[in-house]
Amino acid sequence: MAEFTLPRNSKVQPGKTIRVSGEIKKPRTFKIYRWDPDTGENPRLDTYEIDLARCGPMVLDAIIHIKNDIDSTLTFRRSCREGICGSCAMNIDGTNTLACLKPIEEVQGDVKIYPLPHMPVVKDLVPELTHIYAQYASIKPWLQAESPPPPDRERRQSPEEREKLDGLYECILCFCCTTSCPSYWWNGDKYLGPAVLLQAYRWIADSRDEMTGERLDALEDPFRLYRCHTIMNCTKTCPKGLNPAKAIGEIKKLMLERAG
Ligand code: SF4
Ligand code: SF4
Ligand code: FES
Repeated sequence: MAEFTLPRNSKVQPGKTIRVSGEIKKPRTFKIYRWDPDTGENPRLDTYEIDLARCGPMVLDAIIHIKNDIDSTLTFRRSCREGICGSCAMNIDGTNTLACLKPIEEVQGDVKIYPLPHMPVVKDLVPELTHIYAQYASIKPWLQAESPPPPDRERRQSPEEREKLDGLYECILCFCCTTSCPSYWWNGDKYLGPAVLLQAYRWIADSRDEMTGERLDALEDPFRLYRCHTIMNCTKTCPKGLNPAKAIGEIKKLMLERAG
Protein backbone atom coordinates (compact mmCIF):
# COMPACT_ATOMS: atom_id res chain seq x y z
CA MET A 1 0.00 0.00 0.00
CA ALA A 2 1.28 3.48 -0.86
CA GLU A 3 2.29 5.60 2.11
CA PHE A 4 2.14 9.36 2.07
CA THR A 5 4.09 11.68 4.30
CA LEU A 6 2.70 15.15 4.79
CA PRO A 7 5.18 18.01 4.57
CA ARG A 8 6.08 19.10 8.13
CA ASN A 9 4.72 22.60 7.64
CA SER A 10 1.27 21.30 6.64
CA LYS A 11 0.61 19.53 9.96
CA VAL A 12 -2.01 21.21 12.11
CA GLN A 13 -0.61 21.77 15.64
CA PRO A 14 -2.59 22.23 18.84
CA GLY A 15 -3.04 25.98 19.42
CA LYS A 16 -3.89 28.26 22.30
CA THR A 17 -7.02 28.14 24.44
CA ILE A 18 -8.89 31.37 25.15
CA ARG A 19 -11.84 31.63 27.49
CA VAL A 20 -14.28 34.51 27.31
CA SER A 21 -14.00 36.68 30.41
CA GLY A 22 -16.72 36.92 33.05
CA GLU A 23 -19.38 34.49 34.14
CA ILE A 24 -20.38 31.95 31.45
CA LYS A 25 -24.08 31.00 31.38
CA LYS A 26 -24.19 28.70 28.31
CA PRO A 27 -20.65 27.37 27.74
CA ARG A 28 -19.61 25.97 24.35
CA THR A 29 -16.23 25.10 22.90
CA PHE A 30 -15.20 26.07 19.37
CA LYS A 31 -12.03 24.69 17.76
CA ILE A 32 -10.98 26.82 14.82
CA TYR A 33 -8.25 26.38 12.20
CA ARG A 34 -5.75 29.23 12.25
CA TRP A 35 -2.97 29.95 9.80
CA ASP A 36 -1.11 33.16 9.16
CA PRO A 37 1.28 33.09 6.16
CA ASP A 38 3.29 35.99 7.61
CA THR A 39 4.48 34.07 10.69
CA GLY A 40 6.03 31.10 8.86
CA GLU A 41 4.47 28.86 11.53
CA ASN A 42 2.42 25.70 10.99
CA PRO A 43 -1.38 25.91 11.04
CA ARG A 44 -2.89 25.36 14.48
CA LEU A 45 -6.28 24.60 16.00
CA ASP A 46 -7.21 27.28 18.54
CA THR A 47 -9.81 26.58 21.22
CA TYR A 48 -12.33 29.22 22.24
CA GLU A 49 -14.57 28.70 25.24
CA ILE A 50 -17.47 31.06 24.75
CA ASP A 51 -20.86 31.90 26.20
CA LEU A 52 -23.72 31.17 23.80
CA ALA A 53 -25.89 33.51 25.87
CA ARG A 54 -23.84 36.37 24.39
CA CYS A 55 -24.32 35.61 20.69
CA GLY A 56 -26.96 34.60 18.15
CA PRO A 57 -27.89 31.00 17.27
CA MET A 58 -25.82 30.45 14.12
CA VAL A 59 -22.18 29.41 13.80
CA LEU A 60 -21.44 32.73 12.06
CA ASP A 61 -22.86 34.59 15.08
CA ALA A 62 -20.39 32.74 17.32
CA ILE A 63 -17.45 33.47 15.01
CA ILE A 64 -18.36 37.17 14.89
CA HIS A 65 -18.65 37.15 18.70
CA ILE A 66 -15.16 35.59 18.95
CA LYS A 67 -13.70 38.21 16.60
CA ASN A 68 -15.43 41.16 18.26
CA ASP A 69 -15.02 40.20 21.91
CA ILE A 70 -12.26 37.60 22.28
CA ASP A 71 -9.69 37.50 19.45
CA SER A 72 -9.71 40.19 16.77
CA THR A 73 -7.04 38.36 14.73
CA LEU A 74 -9.50 35.63 13.62
CA THR A 75 -10.05 36.08 9.86
CA PHE A 76 -13.03 34.95 7.81
CA ARG A 77 -15.33 36.16 5.03
CA ARG A 78 -18.95 37.11 5.51
CA SER A 79 -21.37 39.66 4.23
CA CYS A 80 -25.13 39.06 4.06
CA ARG A 81 -25.65 36.82 7.12
CA GLU A 82 -28.66 35.23 5.42
CA GLY A 83 -27.40 32.66 2.91
CA ILE A 84 -27.36 34.92 -0.14
CA CYS A 85 -23.79 36.10 -0.73
CA GLY A 86 -22.02 32.73 -0.40
CA SER A 87 -18.98 34.24 1.29
CA CYS A 88 -19.15 32.47 4.69
CA ALA A 89 -18.71 28.96 3.24
CA MET A 90 -16.47 26.82 5.45
CA ASN A 91 -16.16 23.28 6.79
CA ILE A 92 -18.18 22.94 10.00
CA ASP A 93 -18.34 19.66 11.89
CA GLY A 94 -16.95 17.84 8.84
CA THR A 95 -19.37 19.29 6.26
CA ASN A 96 -18.99 22.18 3.85
CA THR A 97 -21.77 24.66 4.52
CA LEU A 98 -22.64 28.31 5.13
CA ALA A 99 -21.80 29.46 8.66
CA CYS A 100 -24.73 31.89 8.65
CA LEU A 101 -27.25 29.10 7.95
CA LYS A 102 -25.78 26.50 10.33
CA PRO A 103 -27.43 26.44 13.77
CA ILE A 104 -24.91 25.84 16.55
CA GLU A 105 -27.33 23.49 18.26
CA GLU A 106 -27.15 21.08 15.28
CA VAL A 107 -23.50 20.34 16.13
CA GLN A 108 -22.78 17.65 18.73
CA GLY A 109 -19.78 18.24 21.01
CA ASP A 110 -17.06 20.76 20.18
CA VAL A 111 -17.76 22.89 17.11
CA LYS A 112 -14.82 22.24 14.75
CA ILE A 113 -14.31 24.73 11.95
CA TYR A 114 -11.87 24.55 9.03
CA PRO A 115 -11.62 26.44 5.74
CA LEU A 116 -13.17 24.81 2.64
CA PRO A 117 -11.02 21.71 2.02
CA HIS A 118 -8.34 21.21 -0.64
CA MET A 119 -8.05 24.90 -1.43
CA PRO A 120 -5.02 27.12 -0.84
CA VAL A 121 -5.62 29.26 2.25
CA VAL A 122 -5.13 33.03 2.29
CA LYS A 123 -5.44 33.22 6.09
CA ASP A 124 -7.41 31.28 8.76
CA LEU A 125 -10.86 30.49 7.26
CA VAL A 126 -10.37 32.39 3.99
CA PRO A 127 -9.75 30.19 0.92
CA GLU A 128 -7.99 31.44 -2.22
CA LEU A 129 -10.66 31.64 -4.96
CA THR A 130 -8.72 33.23 -7.85
CA HIS A 131 -8.43 30.00 -9.86
CA ILE A 132 -12.06 28.98 -9.34
CA TYR A 133 -13.30 32.43 -10.43
CA ALA A 134 -11.11 32.21 -13.55
CA GLN A 135 -12.81 28.87 -14.26
CA TYR A 136 -16.18 30.56 -13.76
CA ALA A 137 -15.25 33.35 -16.19
CA SER A 138 -14.19 30.70 -18.73
CA ILE A 139 -17.78 29.49 -19.18
CA LYS A 140 -18.89 33.03 -20.15
CA PRO A 141 -21.61 33.39 -17.52
CA TRP A 142 -23.69 35.95 -19.34
CA LEU A 143 -26.39 35.97 -22.01
CA GLN A 144 -24.93 35.64 -25.50
CA ALA A 145 -27.25 36.41 -28.40
CA GLU A 146 -26.41 37.83 -31.81
CA SER A 147 -29.92 38.65 -32.96
CA PRO A 148 -30.84 42.12 -31.72
CA PRO A 149 -33.42 42.34 -28.92
CA PRO A 150 -36.89 43.62 -29.84
CA PRO A 151 -36.68 47.43 -29.94
CA ASP A 152 -39.52 48.14 -27.55
CA ARG A 153 -39.26 45.34 -24.96
CA GLU A 154 -36.95 42.86 -23.23
CA ARG A 155 -36.18 39.36 -24.54
CA ARG A 156 -39.12 37.29 -23.39
CA GLN A 157 -39.47 33.74 -22.13
CA SER A 158 -42.58 31.62 -21.75
CA PRO A 159 -43.33 30.40 -18.20
CA GLU A 160 -42.19 26.91 -19.31
CA GLU A 161 -38.86 28.27 -20.63
CA ARG A 162 -38.34 30.27 -17.44
CA GLU A 163 -39.07 27.19 -15.33
CA LYS A 164 -36.06 25.44 -16.85
CA LEU A 165 -33.83 27.84 -14.87
CA ASP A 166 -35.32 26.81 -11.51
CA GLY A 167 -32.74 24.96 -9.43
CA LEU A 168 -29.97 26.74 -11.36
CA TYR A 169 -30.39 30.48 -10.92
CA GLU A 170 -30.42 30.13 -7.11
CA CYS A 171 -26.74 29.09 -6.99
CA ILE A 172 -24.80 31.60 -4.88
CA LEU A 173 -21.30 30.42 -5.90
CA CYS A 174 -20.32 29.45 -2.37
CA PHE A 175 -18.26 26.51 -3.75
CA CYS A 176 -19.28 24.16 -0.93
CA CYS A 177 -20.00 21.62 -3.68
CA THR A 178 -16.81 22.02 -5.69
CA THR A 179 -14.61 21.74 -2.61
CA SER A 180 -16.39 18.53 -1.53
CA CYS A 181 -15.87 16.85 -4.92
CA PRO A 182 -13.05 14.26 -4.95
CA SER A 183 -12.60 14.70 -8.72
CA TYR A 184 -12.04 18.42 -8.17
CA TRP A 185 -9.58 17.74 -5.35
CA TRP A 186 -7.34 15.74 -7.69
CA ASN A 187 -7.97 17.49 -11.04
CA GLY A 188 -9.06 20.99 -10.07
CA ASP A 189 -6.44 22.52 -12.36
CA LYS A 190 -8.43 21.36 -15.39
CA TYR A 191 -11.78 19.96 -14.21
CA LEU A 192 -14.35 22.75 -13.80
CA GLY A 193 -16.13 21.19 -10.83
CA PRO A 194 -19.84 21.14 -9.95
CA ALA A 195 -20.47 24.85 -9.19
CA VAL A 196 -19.03 26.09 -12.48
CA LEU A 197 -20.68 23.28 -14.45
CA LEU A 198 -24.06 24.06 -12.88
CA GLN A 199 -23.54 27.66 -13.97
CA ALA A 200 -22.53 26.50 -17.45
CA TYR A 201 -25.79 24.55 -17.68
CA ARG A 202 -27.74 27.57 -16.41
CA TRP A 203 -26.77 29.41 -19.63
CA ILE A 204 -27.14 26.34 -21.86
CA ALA A 205 -30.71 25.93 -20.52
CA ASP A 206 -31.63 29.59 -21.06
CA SER A 207 -34.00 29.89 -24.05
CA ARG A 208 -32.75 33.42 -24.78
CA ASP A 209 -29.12 32.36 -25.23
CA GLU A 210 -28.02 31.63 -28.80
CA MET A 211 -24.60 30.08 -28.15
CA THR A 212 -25.65 26.62 -26.95
CA GLY A 213 -23.51 24.83 -29.56
CA GLU A 214 -20.44 26.92 -28.76
CA ARG A 215 -20.99 26.43 -25.03
CA LEU A 216 -21.15 22.64 -25.47
CA ASP A 217 -18.07 22.69 -27.73
CA ALA A 218 -16.14 24.46 -25.00
CA LEU A 219 -17.02 21.71 -22.49
CA GLU A 220 -16.29 18.78 -24.85
CA ASP A 221 -13.00 17.84 -23.24
CA PRO A 222 -11.83 14.87 -21.16
CA PHE A 223 -11.11 17.12 -18.16
CA ARG A 224 -13.39 20.16 -18.13
CA LEU A 225 -16.62 18.10 -17.95
CA TYR A 226 -15.91 14.39 -17.96
CA ARG A 227 -13.99 14.18 -14.68
CA CYS A 228 -17.40 14.04 -12.97
CA HIS A 229 -17.94 10.43 -11.92
CA THR A 230 -21.34 10.99 -10.32
CA ILE A 231 -20.05 10.60 -6.76
CA MET A 232 -22.82 13.02 -5.63
CA ASN A 233 -20.92 14.70 -2.74
CA CYS A 234 -21.77 17.99 -4.42
CA THR A 235 -25.53 17.52 -4.26
CA LYS A 236 -25.36 16.16 -0.71
CA THR A 237 -23.53 19.21 0.59
CA CYS A 238 -25.20 22.12 -1.26
CA PRO A 239 -26.56 24.45 1.46
CA LYS A 240 -29.12 25.84 -1.00
CA GLY A 241 -30.56 22.38 -1.74
CA LEU A 242 -29.48 22.45 -5.40
CA ASN A 243 -28.44 19.46 -7.49
CA PRO A 244 -25.23 20.18 -9.43
CA ALA A 245 -24.78 16.47 -10.26
CA LYS A 246 -28.12 16.55 -12.12
CA ALA A 247 -27.08 19.67 -14.06
CA ILE A 248 -23.85 17.91 -15.06
CA GLY A 249 -25.90 14.88 -16.12
CA GLU A 250 -28.05 17.15 -18.32
CA ILE A 251 -24.94 18.54 -20.06
CA LYS A 252 -23.67 14.99 -20.69
CA LYS A 253 -27.09 14.04 -22.08
CA LEU A 254 -26.99 16.98 -24.53
CA MET A 255 -23.48 15.93 -25.60
CA LEU A 256 -24.77 12.42 -26.38
CA GLU A 257 -27.84 13.73 -28.20
CA ARG A 258 -25.85 15.93 -30.52
CA ALA A 259 -23.29 13.16 -31.16
CA GLY A 260 -26.37 11.33 -32.27
S1 SF4 B 1 -21.29 14.15 -8.89
FE1 SF4 B 1 -19.56 14.86 -10.11
S2 SF4 B 1 -19.29 16.94 -9.50
FE2 SF4 B 1 -20.58 15.99 -7.92
S3 SF4 B 1 -19.12 15.32 -6.35
FE3 SF4 B 1 -19.41 13.72 -7.78
S4 SF4 B 1 -17.75 13.84 -9.27
FE4 SF4 B 1 -17.94 15.78 -8.21
S1 SF4 C 1 -24.49 24.56 -6.34
FE1 SF4 C 1 -24.92 24.92 -4.16
S2 SF4 C 1 -22.98 24.39 -3.12
FE2 SF4 C 1 -22.53 24.68 -5.27
S3 SF4 C 1 -21.85 26.79 -5.42
FE3 SF4 C 1 -24.04 26.73 -5.92
S4 SF4 C 1 -25.07 27.13 -4.00
FE4 SF4 C 1 -22.96 26.62 -3.47
S1 FES D 1 -22.74 35.59 5.09
FE1 FES D 1 -23.64 35.59 3.07
S2 FES D 1 -24.03 33.46 2.77
FE2 FES D 1 -23.33 33.53 4.81
